[in-house]
Amino acid sequence: MAASRPDYGIDAPNVLRNLFLFGIPCLLLGLFLPAHVHIGRIDFLPRPMFFWTGLFLLLEGLLYLQYVMSGKMRHRDYMLSLYRWRGDESVLDVGCGRGLLLIGAAKKAASGKATGIDIWSNEDMGGNSEAATQRNLNLEGVADRCTLISMPAQEMPFPDASFDVIVSNLCLHNIYDKPIRQEALGQMVRVLKPGGVMLVSDYKLTGEYAEHFRGAGLQVQRCWGRPFYNFPPLRVVIARKPS
Ligand SMILES: C[S@@+](CC[C@H](N)C(=O)[O-])C[C@H]1O[C@@H](n2cnc3c(N)ncnc32)[C@H](O)[C@@H]1O
Repeated sequence: MAASRPDYGIDAPNVLRNLFLFGIPCLLLGLFLPAHVHIGRIDFLPRPMFFWTGLFLLLEGLLYLQYVMSGKMRHRDYMLSLYRWRGDESVLDVGCGRGLLLIGAAKKAASGKATGIDIWSNEDMGGNSEAATQRNLNLEGVADRCTLISMPAQEMPFPDASFDVIVSNLCLHNIYDKPIRQEALGQMVRVLKPGGVMLVSDYKLTGEYAEHFRGAGLQVQRCWGRPFYNFPPLRVVIARKPS
């Protein structure tokens, strides 16, 4: 039976799986191994070592699961609250995945339009595909105002100054090669309209994004996402292009 509720998928599913895959056996070893092991003249303490490692990994896994199940909806709402919406904006979501921010932004820009670009990597997002995102757009009732395009962020063909608002969450760190990542940032600056705003969230490299945007003449602020429901902790770069 087809899902009747949108499914925004599991971010980096292998990371989540590995936290439990290693965390649970480590914790069990930590509970059941002997407290001391002597090898030659060396005294090992395997129990606390495995116990604390296992507990740490499991805790990370649970926090991550919480982000995937509900935290990311709250992070989306927080990100979108950082901009005062008129309602008629043209919005671009860079690395839209299964449409989390794209759909949120399309609802805010009720008389505007929203475009999501992605390469649909299944390593970065479970069940990632254009069809899965289109299904979410239909279920959320915003399909008529949204366009999905398969393309890498660093190769955007949009004309200069196409978008009032550009959003992106947890995408750019997946571009491992710095010059290519810088190219993607440069494209985002290029396609943003004068007076437009970018909201770019990630768990690392936000300093690099901020520096790039500043260097391109944008006014930049950087803030932490709300604590507790983001894991790993996320920061948001807010960049305004002068009119
Ligand atoms: C962790 S997911 C986050 C998806 C979505 N932004 C969200 O918050 O739910 C990262 C997304 O970035 C996409 N991505 C990775 N590298 C990309 C690139 N070079 N250009 C466009 N999208 C990319 C992946 O396919 C994936 O959908």
